[in-house]
Amino acid sequence: RTARFALHPDFSVGEVNPRLFGSFVEHLGRCVYTGIHEPGHPAADESGLRTDVLALIRELGVTAIRYPGGNFVSGYKWEDSVGPAEERPRRLDLAWSSTETNRFGLSEYIAFVRKIGPQAEPMMAVNLGTRGVAEALELQEYVNHPSGTALSDLRAAHGNEAPFGIRLWCLGNEMDGPWQTGHKTAEEYGRLAAETARAMRQIDPDVELVACGSSSQAMQTFAGWEATVLAETYDLVDYISLHAYYEELDGDRDSFLASAADMESFIENVVATCDHVGARLKSKKKINLSFDEWNVWYQSRTGPNAGGWPSGWPEAPRLLEDNYTVTDAVVFGSLLIALLRHADRVTVACLAQLVNVIAPIMTEPGGPAWKQTTFFPFAQASRHGRGRVLDVRVESPTHETRKYGEVPLLHATAVHGDDGTVTVFAVNRSQTEALPLEVALHGLEVSSVLQHSALADEDPEARNTLAEPERVIPHEAADTVLKAGVLSAVLEPLSWNVIRLG
Ligand code: AHR
Repeated sequence: RTARFALHPDFSVGEVNPRLFGSFVEHLGRCVYTGIHEPGHPAADESGLRTDVLALIRELGVTAIRYPGGNFVSGYKWEDSVGPAEERPRRLDLAWSSTETNRFGLSEYIAFVRKIGPQAEPMMAVNLGTRGVAEALELQEYVNHPSGTALSDLRAAHGNEAPFGIRLWCLGNEMDGPWQTGHKTAEEYGRLAAETARAMRQIDPDVELVACGSSSQAMQTFAGWEATVLAETYDLVDYISLHAYYEELDGDRDSFLASAADMESFIENVVATCDHVGARLKSKKKINLSFDEWNVWYQSRTGPNAGGWPSGWPEAPRLLEDNYTVTDAVVFGSLLIALLRHADRVTVACLAQLVNVIAPIMTEPGGPAWKQTTFFPFAQASRHGRGRVLDVRVESPTHETRKYGEVPLLHATAVHGDDGTVTVFAVNRSQTEALPLEVALHGLEVSSVLQHSALADEDPEARNTLAEPERVIPHEAADTVLKAGVLSAVLEPLSWNVIRLG
């Protein structure tokens, strides 16, 4: 019952794009307000950004930060979010039944991204739900045009002389979803996305544009949506988006632990659809994938249809504040493995979301910030998952799942770093059995195990909370050896593992 695979540097999937470790800040619940921005908090800087949260975000290692939504963007009026903060209008946010104060806006977002550090970059969505081409162009002119026009001069008058230089743009959000304000058919959206993209490229041919794909693989319109949208936009956009959230339902933990099977098939089906449209158009261009929302999300408990939705239009209510377990972190790690395994075509991905809202970082207003269980796999993957993804074909014991049939107990990938190190990321999906692993290393200049970090716990429900913020942290696994070109390790039941070789 040993799982095995072999590694050789000549057999690889592709380079990891740093944007694979993106995240997402939406005006939703307490992601922005009392999450990243809380003037008056003891750790707040002069602009109200929480420096304790900024430090955790840096440690997490996020790159592209998608903003301002999500569903929120389909009601977003960018003009409301610029200029003196105290003069900005309060608005109804239909997406989350909340009041948006606009105290945190465009320039605060850019300042936030810059304060994270040079590894972070903005990824801005335009509103194609209730707005269209003209407003997208105005926003682009405001943020990116150097000077000498009404909107670029307005930006300067607002204290930002230098343009923001936003390169990566989402053309709307989840436009296939009936819940989206201004929801559209694929034909309607495809035309609007094409015309918006064409016009945005007139301002700047070098912008990178993401067309909306499906909100999940389970959508009735899936695949047909992508084919129709891409038929309109193929030459005008660079990426198509994918969104997916997973949760344990009906106590079916084995299926939940195999969620990455769905994520991988989703990616492969979207790649096939993109390439089919490209072939029909006789195009040499390849459309890449922006998996710009992914996570574990207990939608059945904390989602829009789960009851307890805000009434009275509150400001920054507690919404979608999932508290993740060790089991969730193992699934989450497996989703990261799925993204890395497809690094040749998935070149942007955003963990949804960053703080408080289905997030790896939690905060208490006026109080501390802490790491959820999911913080660790993300931080480790972002830190050690840089370089070239090697082709990993596992031979593994399997088990039967209700949702996905027979799945291997081992889910794994490996990254060959530019410094010559090799990092194996591996999940043992068995809830009860340890899984021996052997990796045969060929043509790789590694001779020792630098680290085997494992996230597992006797209590699969263990989690970090305000009262016990460090209940769950990764530990060093014992007895992992590299001898005669073979790595041997034992993966604890229900575990996320990072094995570094140098
Ligand atoms: O991330 C939470 C929500 O999930 C986003 O606003 C939306 O795009 C998706 O349905």
